[in-house]
Amino acid sequence: MILEGDQFADPEFRRGVWRQTATTVAMVTSAHDGSANVMACEWAMMVAVSPLRFVISVGPRHATHELIERSGEFGLSFCSDRQARLSHVSGSYSLNDIDKWTLADFPTYPAHVIAAPMIEHCALNVECRVAETSPLGDHTLFLGEALWARFDAERQPLIYHAGQYRYLGEQIPKD
Ligand SMILES: Cc1cc2nc3c(=O)[nH]c(=O)nc-3n(C[C@H](O)[C@H](O)[C@H](O)COP(=O)(O)O)c2cc1C
Repeated sequence: MILEGDQFADPEFRRGVWRQTATTVAMVTSAHDGSANVMACEWAMMVAVSPLRFVISVGPRHATHELIERSGEFGLSFCSDRQARLSHVSGSYSLNDIDKWTLADFPTYPAHVIAAPMIEHCALNVECRVAETSPLGDHTLFLGEALWARFDAERQPLIYHAGQYRYLGEQIPKD
């Protein structure tokens, strides 16, 4: 069934649009003034190669937003397909209400360059400095320049689609 139009004020239509997207999930870590946080972020991706840059889209009411604005940096820990629970926990609670580090066993290691901790056993970790900030209305785009990266080629990224977690599927031939 094909639906089309510009009825973006209709939550059902918007949800239908969103459900047709698929992403990975990054656990965005941030820290400032003795407070550190972790938040699931589906809208996180690499967008430039030289210099290597990543973009994230963060709601302005999230505690993460203020921590990134104040510190000017953030960590990206792209979930492996074994980390759906950590994604779920970090995306279902806010530091505004509770200290998420107590809700699950987030395995952390100290970042090399930034103050925020990074998450272990991920597909990819990238430490970023904010290069540009663009308000988008109900979200803010933070463009981050990569300062340090670490990846594990043995791990597969977690896939997020229509509110559910998936494994990366089989390769499809190009012809
Ligand atoms: C899988 C998943 C992906 C999410 N992606 C985003 C995202 O891209 N941007 C965003 O602002 N919130 C996203 N969220 C919601 C935040 O993670 C959630 O509101 C979180 O509680 C914010 O935490 P904080 O207030 O401690 O920063 C996502 C949640 C989940 C479960």
